[in-house]
Amino acid sequence: MNTKSLVSISDIGRDEILSLLDTARHFEENPNRRLLEGKVVATLFFEPSTRTRLSFETAVNRLGGRVIGFSDANTTSSSKGETLKDTIKMVSNYVDLIVMRHYLEGAARYASEVTDVPVINAGDGANQHPSQTMLDLYSIYKTQGTLENLTITLVGDLKYGRTVHSLLMAMRYFNPTFRFVACQELGMPMEYKIFCDENGIRYTEHRDFSPEVINSSDIIYMTRVQRERFADIMEYERVKDLYNLNNSMLSGARENMRILHPLPRVNEIAQDVDDNPHAYYFEQARNGLYARQAIICRALGITINS
Ligand code: CP
Repeated sequence: MNTKSLVSISDIGRDEILSLLDTARHFEENPNRRLLEGKVVATLFFEPSTRTRLSFETAVNRLGGRVIGFSDANTTSSSKGETLKDTIKMVSNYVDLIVMRHYLEGAARYASEVTDVPVINAGDGANQHPSQTMLDLYSIYKTQGTLENLTITLVGDLKYGRTVHSLLMAMRYFNPTFRFVACQELGMPMEYKIFCDENGIRYTEHRDFSPEVINSSDIIYMTRVQRERFADIMEYERVKDLYNLNNSMLSGARENMRILHPLPRVNEIAQDVDDNPHAYYFEQARNGLYARQAIICRALGITINS
């Protein structure tokens, strides 16, 4: 496995996280730098995506590199039965870096083990989404001025939401307090609660998305109920609308509080929130470009001079 792969947020420690955030800041000041001249990056998306794929591809383009790849695996030889291993080994013949999203948990780790080319996990099932976490951390830092000692409320699908799993793990370095707001069926999985216990992370669990929870949060991180992960569609229908945020719920929020959402949203954030000063999810998505430029440069061993 290439040590520059980013498969899990646990692959990098506090210092590397902070270094990536600093690099992202440089890219926000100037995203157009020809640092990837002669490099080719593959974006292999076995699951749908708008932001992750397009921001990775924009990142490469703005850095002067080239992109190959697919957004629909049905158009590739995997539809003829080619294994993931063979696909990765073939693509490795052509490129300097692989960015992959896959519906199976562990697929990115497996891919990274069958190639010497660095692999960036762009989401593997309900497991991890580390590049999303870097843009989330960058967004939190930009809006709060710190990553330390924050109260972060995670709302919605905490079972299948890979972004909340990665974020929780990354925050272990920064003394957070988490609130988990979810119904019983979509609560934070036990393995992540054990992770919190082992790493001294405080958390409380809530069924109600109450004013007390909202008004004492620095970050409210909304998530979509992940329909594609449900085996039983009736179960999805039963839980999909349990947690919704609208403008009237925000009147007592802390001034610094910002609403994040990895997007896409369905109806868990009402449209009337979009113009509220607490809303930050569209800016958050824009931060993805800079965070991913930093991640790509790390993977390729490229340092930038501010
Ligand atoms: N946040 C996120 O992963 O969005 P996409 O599914 O559109 O890439």
